[in-house]
Amino acid sequence: MESFDLEGLPVYSKSQLALRNGEDREEIWTAYNGIIYDVGSSRLWRNGKHYEHWAGQDLTEELDRDAPHTKNVFDKFKAIGKLSN
Ligand code: HEM
Repeated sequence: MESFDLEGLPVYSKSQLALRNGEDREEIWTAYNGIIYDVGSSRLWRNGKHYEHWAGQDLTEELDRDAPHTKNVFDKFKAIGKLSN
């Protein structure tokens, strides 16, 4: 069953996110700080891979630790959901 949070965003589990890794389904999603973004339109996330990082999971720590950019890279993507705890 689908649930929604207070802002009306659908809430997905880790395993639902994991299916959007670029291999199991058409969709390519990744999460940062619990917000799920659809990066399927990005050339830089083709097949779910972005410089040694795989979609389908929350990459908060990886971005904060390894990325040469800030979280502003998400500005142009739509938040499509929230990750459940
Ligand atoms: C070794 C680590 C990483 C490298 C070398 C890397 C490199 C890059 C580069 C060069 C760009 C394009 C230029 C820019 O927007 O600054 C980019 C964009 C982006 N990165 Fe990373 N990144 C890394 C890790 C991550 C991680 C962990 C995330 C977390 C989800 C992430 C998310 C994104 C997103 C969403 C974009 C925007 C894509 C687009 O505009 O099409 N990156 N990254």
